[in-house]
Amino acid sequence: MDRTFSIADLRAQARRRLPRPIFDYIDGGADDERALANNAHAFGHYEIVPDVLNDVSSIRTASTLFGQPVAWPLMLAPTGLTRMFHPGAERAVARAASRHGVAYALSTMGTTRIEDWAAEFAGPRVFQIYVFKDRGLTAEFVQRCKAAGVHGLALTVDTPVAGNRERDHRNGLSLPPRLTAGSLASFACHPAWSLSALGGRRFELANVSHRVDGLTRGSMSLFDYIGSQFDRSLTWKDVEWLSSVWGGPLSIKGVMTPADARRAIDSGASGVMLSNHGGRQLDEAPAPVDQIAAVREALGDGPEIICDGGIRRGADVVKALALGANGASIGRPYLYGLAAGGEAGVDRALTLLRAGFERTLTLSGINDIAAIQSRHIRPSVIPSSSSSRSPQ
Ligand code: FNR
Repeated sequence: MDRTFSIADLRAQARRRLPRPIFDYIDGGADDERALANNAHAFGHYEIVPDVLNDVSSIRTASTLFGQPVAWPLMLAPTGLTRMFHPGAERAVARAASRHGVAYALSTMGTTRIEDWAAEFAGPRVFQIYVFKDRGLTAEFVQRCKAAGVHGLALTVDTPVAGNRERDHRNGLSLPPRLTAGSLASFACHPAWSLSALGGRRFELANVSHRVDGLTRGSMSLFDYIGSQFDRSLTWKDVEWLSSVWGGPLSIKGVMTPADARRAIDSGASGVMLSNHGGRQLDEAPAPVDQIAAVREALGDGPEIICDGGIRRGADVVKALALGANGASIGRPYLYGLAAGGEAGVDRALTLLRAGFERTLTLSGINDIAAIQSRHIRPSVIPSSSSSRSPQ
């Protein structure tokens, strides 16, 4: 880990350690991967305008997310199937996140039970929920979250159907991973991963597997069952319902416009996560960072805005805050770390991002994140092709 100096370095290590289909599952996006690339490029649309000769001998970064204290305003985004990337899975992520004092959202598609994860994770606990066709399953999640001391829910709304992830199709990715003629060579080249993944504990979506056994008596695979549960008829009424049965902090993940952000708050949410699912769903979607300022203007000061997608440097978090977000959330950066080195890899990703965040504030003459203002950011004057950086 000592030889990794950026998220890009962790990505390169993850690529070496994982069989190709598994790496591509993390790394890839939908269709032509335009949104995936734009998410990161879009941070190059902005420059930070520094102050000088302000005492920066200590920098205050503490804040809150979902009403809970965080050491700095970062959340680890919900990501499914985590045990495929490292046997430590969500527990390893939770231990590193606890140490760093950041928030962490467990995915409905996670591989650790809500109760076990909550016992492992001391920080702000967020559960990523779906309103499934089977509202009983969603209501069951709400009850389990309450009992386990989960602080907030993030309702994902950008998945009425699965995105078209062509890398996964081409790789013949099967879930859970199985040895097929096509994938044999790649698995054979990564024996350490293959032994732990294929020979270890049974791979399962830990929070929903009981429903499949109970409801379908094995006639349907877990993944078919989940696929069958996405409800295309969802509306804001369902947000009202969820907010009333939950009664705590609720963020709507996948909102992209000022009008929808307003409706989210009017429907009972406490905030929004501006997100295009890391470029894995609608490939023509705008980059979330470019939507922050307009959404903040529409919402005023109160509701919480989290920007999610393309964050690869601590400076990106500073930009998100200067544009009006309360915090930022990362998916692939910590997964690259997890795949590269388990808990130590997640730790490294968080250490690098935190150091970059503080360094950027220091170099910008900002000694308290509460003092970040819109005057600290402006559109880049450099043409976007030369101010961009590589997508990952
Ligand atoms: C995701 N994401 C996601 N989102 C969600 O609401 N539920 C989920 O189960 C998953 N699963 C998932 C798996 C993997 C492998 C990735 C990379 C992403 C999306 C995630 O929460 C977040 O929106 C993006 O990852 C943010 O973009 P970056 O940080 O990866 O660029």
